[in-house]
Amino acid sequence: MRIERLAVLASGGGSNLQALLDSTDIPAEIALVLTDRPAYALERAKARGIEAVCFDRRSFAAKAEFNRALFDKLVEVRIDAIVLAGYLSILDARLVERFAGRILNVHPSLIPSFCGMGFYGLKVHQGVLDYGCKLTGATVHFVDAGADTGPIVFQKSVEVREGDTPESLQARVLEFEHELLPLAVKLLAEGRLKVEGRRVSIID
Ligand code: GRF
Repeated sequence: MRIERLAVLASGGGSNLQALLDSTDIPAEIALVLTDRPAYALERAKARGIEAVCFDRRSFAAKAEFNRALFDKLVEVRIDAIVLAGYLSILDARLVERFAGRILNVHPSLIPSFCGMGFYGLKVHQGVLDYGCKLTGATVHFVDAGADTGPIVFQKSVEVREGDTPESLQARVLEFEHELLPLAVKLLAEGRLKVEGRRVSIID
């Protein structure tokens, strides 16, 4: 199916969203930005005249209600593909199934290291430093029913430097996130990502 209308889900400052907004070669429209909490990402969307909604998890009586509202909104706005850009809630199975093969996520480590439950934001980089890793990096992957477990589209490594802090490491990894995510979204929209099992290749 053609991918024309994108939803970007975020929970934070939205620098990855901004990288998507600033990209000039993604052949699809960001039709919706949705956050699961108040987040500056909403302001970035509003500045571009894009529908920006906050489905604050705390305002839903139960997770199931939040998931239903999210699903219904994405269908209502006729979304074709979803980009998780620093989104901290886990998508429910019904949503992952409905958009199978059309959900991308960016994660600030070299998956399968330092990912999954509990590894988000600065905690990822703290884990890398505590372990004494010499390399970390950024990963863009398809979203499946697990947490950070879908087939990997792109990775780029970052050397850990003497004296690095979680913040300094995050800043360097983010630079590659901002490079890889828009490229992956462009290729997805162009129908040029082929997934065979766990292997993703680019169709020229
Ligand atoms: C990024 O490091 C992303 O990989 C992680 O959370 C951070 C979000 O940053 N999931 P931003 O909101 O895109 O600036």
